[in-house]
Amino acid sequence: MSRHQALLEEAERFIRMCYGELGRSEEETERRLVEVKRTIAEQGRYEHTEDELRHGARIAWRNSNRCIGRLFWETLEVRDARSLETEEEIAGALVDHIAYATNGGKIRPVLTVFRPAVDAGRQVRILNNQLIRYAGYETGRGIVGDPDSVAFTSLCTRLGWRGEGTAFDVLPLVVRIGDRAPRMFPIPRDIVMEVPLSHPELPGLADLRLQWYAVPIVSNMRLEIGGLSYTAAPFNGWYMGTEIGARNLADERRYDMLPRVASLMGLDTSRESYLWRDKALVELNVAVLHSYKEHGVMIVDHHTAARQFTRFEEREQRNDRSITGDWTWLIPPVSPATTPIFHKHYEDRTVTPNFFYQDRPHEAFEKAVNEREIELAESIVVPGCPFTPQ
Ligand code: ARG
Repeated sequence: MSRHQALLEEAERFIRMCYGELGRSEEETERRLVEVKRTIAEQGRYEHTEDELRHGARIAWRNSNRCIGRLFWETLEVRDARSLETEEEIAGALVDHIAYATNGGKIRPVLTVFRPAVDAGRQVRILNNQLIRYAGYETGRGIVGDPDSVAFTSLCTRLGWRGEGTAFDVLPLVVRIGDRAPRMFPIPRDIVMEVPLSHPELPGLADLRLQWYAVPIVSNMRLEIGGLSYTAAPFNGWYMGTEIGARNLADERRYDMLPRVASLMGLDTSRESYLWRDKALVELNVAVLHSYKEHGVMIVDHHTAARQFTRFEEREQRNDRSITGDWTWLIPPVSPATTPIFHKHYEDRTVTPNFFYQDRPHEAFEKAVNEREIELAESIVVPGCPFTPQ
């Protein structure tokens, strides 16, 4: 099957589904299909209308097998940034996304979509995993900050960024168009909302000086709608508490805080069988939920989220749609068997529109740099070149 033929089939399947769900007439659907087919035949591509883009992105969320928060798929706001050309313009739209989605803590689910990957030379990529994330530095005393960010932080440093060296330095945005050198843009401090952690009954917890950012904005996934790939389409919802309290701050490979929490709780950690990890984990999660609430930042606990997911399942069933899911991700990492999700079976089949992982662009870039070191050393004389080799 030729590339055009494959695109045509995907496009037609999507247009029929989209227009059907939106209640558009048979006539309008056929008219649009004729247009799409003609454009693909003539140019080998087609463009989504704003309505198609909005609904396609919402379906992609609805189809995200690992997401427990899908009840709210229809509330996703889609910002059309397809016309933006330069790295500066794109970074500006990312900053706008952060501010608009944060909304003073009353978080809005938002997706910003940049131009699709039709001509490879102009492909837009955001090298950050999430728009807001903390740096990680290898030091003589071990890693400071988020160990998961070490590679990306070193790329930012090579691009000329200097972090303060705290455990919670917000990384800059890094945008790359085609095979041009990536450009780095620090995020204005005042638009990044963060929450310092405290516990309603354990005053010592605040002394750990832990914090987390308000809005998780996933920026490294490819959005596929009707055969078109949007390689830059950052999206956000709000946090479920366990993502922070049971993973980001608790995993041994992340901030590894359970031993410290246990110690401030005065727990005996000499034997695993005392379940000190479990006790510390619960209190750390209490602290996360308590602190976000106290600072007016939307967050959901895992019991409520699981109940919302059950409502989503029921609603999908009523609409005669089969639901797919990845059980291993849907169950929360704290007390999974207390939620209804644990006791059910889900079919982990991938349907489109959907979000997909793509190659890790900063790793690909690092490799390219290492292979062309001499060329880059010479390019230092180019005025305005954002890349400073060391
Ligand atoms: N698990 C990721 C994190 O802890 C965020 C993924 C998206 N989460 C969300 N609630 N939309 O940063």
